[in-house]
Amino acid sequence: MKILSGNKKTKTAVFISGKGSNLKNLIKFSKFKNSPIKIDLVISNNKYAKGLRYASKNKIEKKIFNFNNTKNAEKKSLKILLKKKIKLICLAGFMEILSKNFIKIFKGKIINIHPSLLPKFKGLNTHKRAIKSKESFSGCTVHYVNSKLDSGKIILQKKVRIRKNDTVLSLQKRILKEEYKIYPKAISKILN
Ligand code: GRF
Repeated sequence: MKILSGNKKTKTAVFISGKGSNLKNLIKFSKFKNSPIKIDLVISNNKYAKGLRYASKNKIEKKIFNFNNTKNAEKKSLKILLKKKIKLICLAGFMEILSKNFIKIFKGKIINIHPSLLPKFKGLNTHKRAIKSKESFSGCTVHYVNSKLDSGKIILQKKVRIRKNDTVLSLQKRILKEEYKIYPKAISKILN
């Protein structure tokens, strides 16, 4: 799918809930001359999300919406996304499930990064579950978002070997390093 038109950068929004290290990485990527994206908006469901500081530091507009009321939060999100002519939404540690209706409006334009080798270990606590079930590999996946949790079409995956003495933290750290590589790569793949 081509979202990029001419040599213009695709206006992108990133949705976060927490630490925001993927957001930080995507901002860095967006600043490369040949990057296909420009990050114009950060949306968070959590006003305490540490990642919000990366938006402030980089003078990117940020909005905090209360997703306890999904309908209302999505309505507000939609309004600003349309106003800013956002053409790509990158979920990066966003801990809310978007409604079918919202996903339909942005069909094929919402992507997510998930810390497992999908379709294995959808949902939460992926590293704990991968270690517990004695997998030899885990990894990360960038995929399109559809109405089923962590089930949309896969764009890119990277395998990471699970070591004998791995803890959730050590595995998470190694997988995050790969996330920082594949998220930009996946974006370039769908936009170029
Ligand atoms: C990442 O592991 C991502 O794959 C998952 O949530 C985590 C977010 O980390 N969806 P960060 O907030 O980007 O640091």
